[in-house]
Amino acid sequence: MTQRLLVRDLAQVATPAGTKAPLRGKALGEVEVFEDAFVLCAGETIESVGRMRDLPALDGDVVEVDGRGLCAIPGLVDCHTHAAFGGDRVDEFSLRAAGAGYEELHAAGGGILSTVRATRAAGKDGLLAAVELHGSWMLRAGTTTFESKSGYGLDRETELASLRAISDAGGIPTWLGAHAVPPEFDGADAYLDFALAEVLPDAAELAEAADVFLERGAFDAAQARRYLEACRDAGLALRLHGDQFTESGAIPLAIELEARSVDHLEATGEEGVRELAASEVVGVLLPASALFLDRPMPPARGLVDAGAAVALATDFNPGSSFCESLPLVCSIAATQLHLSPAEALSACTVNAAHVLRRADRVGRLSSGYRADVVLLDAPDWRYLAYHLGGQVIAQVVAGGELR
Ligand code: NIG
Ligand code: FE
Repeated sequence: MTQRLLVRDLAQVATPAGTKAPLRGKALGEVEVFEDAFVLCAGETIESVGRMRDLPALDGDVVEVDGRGLCAIPGLVDCHTHAAFGGDRVDEFSLRAAGAGYEELHAAGGGILSTVRATRAAGKDGLLAAVELHGSWMLRAGTTTFESKSGYGLDRETELASLRAISDAGGIPTWLGAHAVPPEFDGADAYLDFALAEVLPDAAELAEAADVFLERGAFDAAQARRYLEACRDAGLALRLHGDQFTESGAIPLAIELEARSVDHLEATGEEGVRELAASEVVGVLLPASALFLDRPMPPARGLVDAGAAVALATDFNPGSSFCESLPLVCSIAATQLHLSPAEALSACTVNAAHVLRRADRVGRLSSGYRADVVLLDAPDWRYLAYHLGGQVIAQVVAGGELR
């Protein structure tokens, strides 16, 4: 018989409203809240959610969890991370604290390329161990579904090993084959000749999507187009890193190629906001990265008010955002992006799930969804954003299992 798990007597259960993702405009901030409530899971699936007074009598074996003083929200969904890397960048972090620039470090062969060296040296087993470790950090922070990009191998063997490690560690793999130009190539075009001929055919079997870093010092719009069109033709969905430091044409390209998302947007101006809002492309906001690099925040309020679909993610990586915590991202979203706690919750649950094309299975607490539940150590679910950097996670249920 299917094992049932009942979390009872919760102060509140909060879940984004509506079934249609992505949520836009006013709907982004509509969170349904049940007071004095329960969540009932049957095996890996949510059976029902409601007020304690409506809890039916339950036959058979039921594992009960005392939810008094806690709130439940859906398992969080991180739709943009770079978890497959070796080494760290703590020395670079210290240099940046003393004034060194992120882009200058990259141009001098440090930055992303220093992680490429460490990732190539990590080997297959080392990479799997790294993604598993990073996934365990995410789970502890309430993330029950994560995407991760490759992009620190940039050779055939390490890129494919990264994608395999991400799947084996339970993540959703994205091939970031166009992250930087590795030192053994003369330029971006020569590197893309290699990556598209030698890596794409196998990467397309392992990944769900492809991603590119469209930015000065990385790949320009023509190179990004070439890479993305080839990836699309090989069956991959498309994502872009765009407008992080400069507006370099990422939004129009994302719209034209029907990408799932364009991510970062710290440099996006009014025209970009309008274009994105009128499109189906989701804007993925990464405010922990803007904070970590001391860069301007993306125009989140303008995007939401203009009707754009936005998601929030950590951008977890060793260089620009060594942060796996979506609760902290929700706090930054509330204090720096001026999103309400409800908008932030929807952005890192249903809308992030939509970017990963899993919005019918994860991101809400509702019957039939996967039994991914975060229990907050809080009398009000909005402590998710309110408790800045605090120990807000009491316990996590992933696929019906207490973790
Ligand atoms: O999303 N901007 C490009 N890629 C990553 C950072 C990579 C790194 O610094 O290692 C990002 O910020
Ligand atoms: Fe990123």
